[in-house]
Amino acid sequence: MKVIATWIAKGGVGKSTLAGNLSYYLRERGRVLIIDADPQGNTSGWLYPNAFDWELTDIMKRKVGVGQAILPIRPNLDMIGTFAIGGELKEWSETKLPNQPFAFHELRDELEAAGYDFVIFDMSPGTSNLERAILAIADEVIPIVRPEYFSIDGLEVFEDTLENVRRDLRSKAVAPRLVVNGINMSFLVHRSYYDSLKEFSYDIYTIGQTTKATEAQIAHQFLAEYDPSNKVLDEYNRLAKVV
Ligand SMILES: Nc1ncnc2c1ncn2[C@@H]1O[C@H](COP(=O)(O)OP(=O)(O)OP(=O)(O)O)[C@@H](O)[C@H]1O
Ligand SMILES: [Mg+2]
Repeated sequence: MKVIATWIAKGGVGKSTLAGNLSYYLRERGRVLIIDADPQGNTSGWLYPNAFDWELTDIMKRKVGVGQAILPIRPNLDMIGTFAIGGELKEWSETKLPNQPFAFHELRDELEAAGYDFVIFDMSPGTSNLERAILAIADEVIPIVRPEYFSIDGLEVFEDTLENVRRDLRSKAVAPRLVVNGINMSFLVHRSYYDSLKEFSYDIYTIGQTTKATEAQIAHQFLAEYDPSNKVLDEYNRLAKVV
């Protein structure tokens, strides 16, 4: 089993969009679980529009077993959701998690026993105990940036946080790949930020800009379902083959 997290401490850069569309293609390589670990509940609202009974926090609080909280999304793809409204993830992670930084380790073991090949965590842009506890069980973290000036600062914070988690929580998480999202190479400014990101030692994966990404989310679909001939799909697929 491989645990992947899409994370950087920056909001609105495309973490959830990447996690969701990546999970769609990862199904070709095995059983996939996407976990909405963001109190905003964006991924849940996008991919599971119906009401559901149990959220991630209920598993963490041992109110229900993993099996009870699994939501089937597509063949070979399940989800564990988070309630956008009335959810307890934020409160739980602020009050209980500080005393149990290894809280997610047991969940990882249970998911492995359940037979998943890939688990993808969609995370919030924070650097709190919640993000640290999840990074502690990740095998690969995929940072994602927009082609803009402050993305360089964001990457420095990313590397510093990941290094701390690796040291303090004995995490084995690595981050060999970087996603640059919403890029348009015909813009000089985008090309120049792309070039400046080469100074970091990542394999860079670009994802083009497409209004269909948002439209698909409004329709509660994956981009591949909403717009099967979209050029950006090859870019998600390329990443899904190597992670
Ligand atoms: N390649 C893309 N082209 C155009 N729009 C995109 C692309 N990727 C994401 N978006 C849009 O950008 C917005 C922000 O994306 P998303 O919610 O995935 O970001 P996020 O990093 O998860 O945000 P948050 O920090 O709030 O969790 C959404 O409206 C999404 O549809
Ligand atoms: Mg998000």
